[in-house]
Amino acid sequence: MRLPVATDRFITALLDWYKEHKRDLPWRKTENPYHIWLSEVMLQQTQVKVVIPYFLRFLSAFPTIEDLAKADLEKVLALWSGLGYYARARNLHMAAKQICGHYQGAFPADKEQALSLKGVGRYTAGAVHSIAYGKTDPIVDGNIRRVMARFMGIEEPLSSSPEMLWSLLTRVVRHPAVRYSVSQFNQSLMELGALVCLPGSPKCEVCPIAFGCRARKRGAQDKIPVPRRPSRVEKTRFIAGVIQSKGCLLLNRNSGNGLIEGLWDLPLVKSDFKGPVSELAAAFLREHGLKVKVIGELSDVRHQITFRRLLFRPILLRLEREAAEGADWRWVCMESKQAPVSSYVRKIWALSVARGRLPSL
Ligand code: ADE
Repeated sequence: MRLPVATDRFITALLDWYKEHKRDLPWRKTENPYHIWLSEVMLQQTQVKVVIPYFLRFLSAFPTIEDLAKADLEKVLALWSGLGYYARARNLHMAAKQICGHYQGAFPADKEQALSLKGVGRYTAGAVHSIAYGKTDPIVDGNIRRVMARFMGIEEPLSSSPEMLWSLLTRVVRHPAVRYSVSQFNQSLMELGALVCLPGSPKCEVCPIAFGCRARKRGAQDKIPVPRRPSRVEKTRFIAGVIQSKGCLLLNRNSGNGLIEGLWDLPLVKSDFKGPVSELAAAFLREHGLKVKVIGELSDVRHQITFRRLLFRPILLRLEREAAEGADWRWVCMESKQAPVSSYVRKIWALSVARGRLPSL
């Protein structure tokens, strides 16, 4: 596949545009490979404005890869709490240990070594290598896929030929016009996708590469990229026990519901029970050994994790007997601002607060 215009014009237009329009973001003020790596991991599936405070907090807690490697996973997850996709945090922590064990605490500049790190794939390795080390590696993320699919006029789902853009961009970044600014070039494509070549309504009138865009020429920019066939979303319903005492919530770890390993959960019962709530006490005794009385109900909370759509029915419970002592139960209190809980717990917590039952988390 070849670009529909002269490659140097395409590159120069992007680089010029980027110089003038790029956003001022914390990870653009550094070439520290650890900072770039962290930003790229956080930015996967998460918006820039959400990531910024997490990125800054994380780096003040763990200024170096070594600090991260030495930290407790629980603290790492707590600093990730609310960002979602927690496997990213677990992998980052594991990879930091690998880096300290094998590569003297520095993110490896060698491709094979980088790819051997937990959670580091072609995208992350390419981003760190091009942005921090100035290497001639392309990257393809969601924004770049959309920009290039439109520019090239690809009218089939991109998932049917995932290699096509990688091999095209591998050739582009080796072009003499980009060789000394691969970092800027890769970021310019991402930035164009974030600011101009938007998913819903692309701003073609201000696009620096509109001159060669096949989608625009055909008036097909709203139809490209062609969505892949929808994947099946699994729907699961839970009854969520809300047990409070002195401004704290009773949570348990690894409730066995396969939600988010390592985080603290409300006691959950997987069920689509729609009958009277008073009948639910027996389920909490059976599944969690909790002797409780049902005292009320909050409105349902929805939450989506990758391909799972979760619906929680929060039930207010009073503990009739202290939960069995053990590492799996814990009262999480308002002081623990960075409690390692999933955002669905925060949503339910906020509902309880709105009902005047708990201080805010
Ligand atoms: N999305 C993914 N990587 C990014 C970056 N480096 N800057 C802005 N948005 C991004």
